[in-house]
Amino acid sequence: MQHFLDIHKTDPDALRSMIDTAREMKSARNGRPKGTPDDTRPLAGHMVALIFEKPSTRTRISFDVGVRQMGGETMVLSGSDMQLGHGETIADTARVLSRYVDLIMIRTFEEATLLEMADYATVPVINGLTNRTHPCQIMADVMTYEEHRGGIAGRKVVWSGDGNNTFASWAHAAGQFGFDLTFTGPETLDPEPDLHSGIAIDRDPERAVAGADLVVTDTWVSMHDPQSARERRHNQLRPYQVNEELMAAAKPDALFMHCLPAHRDDEATSAVMDGPHSVIWDEAENRLHAQKAILRWCLGV
Ligand code: CP
Ligand code: NVA
Repeated sequence: MQHFLDIHKTDPDALRSMIDTAREMKSARNGRPKGTPDDTRPLAGHMVALIFEKPSTRTRISFDVGVRQMGGETMVLSGSDMQLGHGETIADTARVLSRYVDLIMIRTFEEATLLEMADYATVPVINGLTNRTHPCQIMADVMTYEEHRGGIAGRKVVWSGDGNNTFASWAHAAGQFGFDLTFTGPETLDPEPDLHSGIAIDRDPERAVAGADLVVTDTWVSMHDPQSARERRHNQLRPYQVNEELMAAAKPDALFMHCLPAHRDDEATSAVMDGPHSVIWDEAENRLHAQKAILRWCLGV
C-alpha cells in the first residue's frame, strides 16, 4: 500500500517504472474502443473513490475511464455533497472511506487536507491536485515528452508564466528525472522558495528559452487564486505569453506543453497551441495512461 502524494516523495526508480508501465499499457490497447477493458484487468474487484473539491474535466474523466479499463469500479464524489464539506473532519472521512473503498484520489485546496487524508486512510491516497502541486499531470507530461523525443534526462525544460502548483511538480520532477528546469516569470509570482534550489530563474523570457527542448506554461489565474487578482496577474504575466516569437527563440524542434484548461491568447496563443510544436492533446490523453500506472503502483497490482 503506497500513497502517490508528490513526485519528490516517490522513489525515482518507481517513477521510471510507472512511466514504462504507462507506455506499455497504452500500446497494448492499440486503439481499441475506449470502453473496452484492457486484456489484463488488474483492478478487478477494486473500488476507487474520486473526490473533487474543485472543478475538473481531465482528471475526473481520465481516472474514471482508467479504473474501468482496468476492471475496477469508481465513485465520483463532490466534496460539497459529502459531510466533509459540512464539518466532518478529514481524518474521520479518511477512516470511514477506508472501510468502503480500496483507494482514494482527492483534488483539494490545502495540501494539509491531502496529507491528513493520507495520514488517516488505511488505503492508498493519490494527489489529484492541491494549491501546491499537481504530480499526476507531470507524470503524463514526462511520458509525453519521452514518447516524442526520447529520454528527458539532461534536456532543458523552460516554464514561462506563474510559479504555481503545476510548476512545483515540474520542479520536483527535474530532480527525480534529471532534467534542467528554468523558470521565467515576474518576481512577484515566483515559485515557493523551497523550489529555488535546483532550478534556474531568468526574468527575460527570450533569453530563458534559448536552447529549450520543451516550453511549458499554465493558466495565469489558478482555481485557488482570488478573481480579484486577475487583472494584476494578467498585467504582470503578459510579457511571458508563449507565442510564436517566443517559440522561435527555443530549439527548432522544441515541444510546447500546457496541462489545460487554457485561456487561449492569454498564457499561450492559439497559433502555438494548434501549431507544429504543440503536443497538448497527447499530454491530455496521457493523463489516462500515466494514472493507470500510478493506480497499479499504489495498489501493488
Ligand atoms: N489538467 C488538469 O488537471 O485538468 P482538469 O482540471 O480538467 O482536471
Ligand atoms: N494551475 C491550475 C491547474 C489546473 C489543472 C489550477 O490549479 O487551476
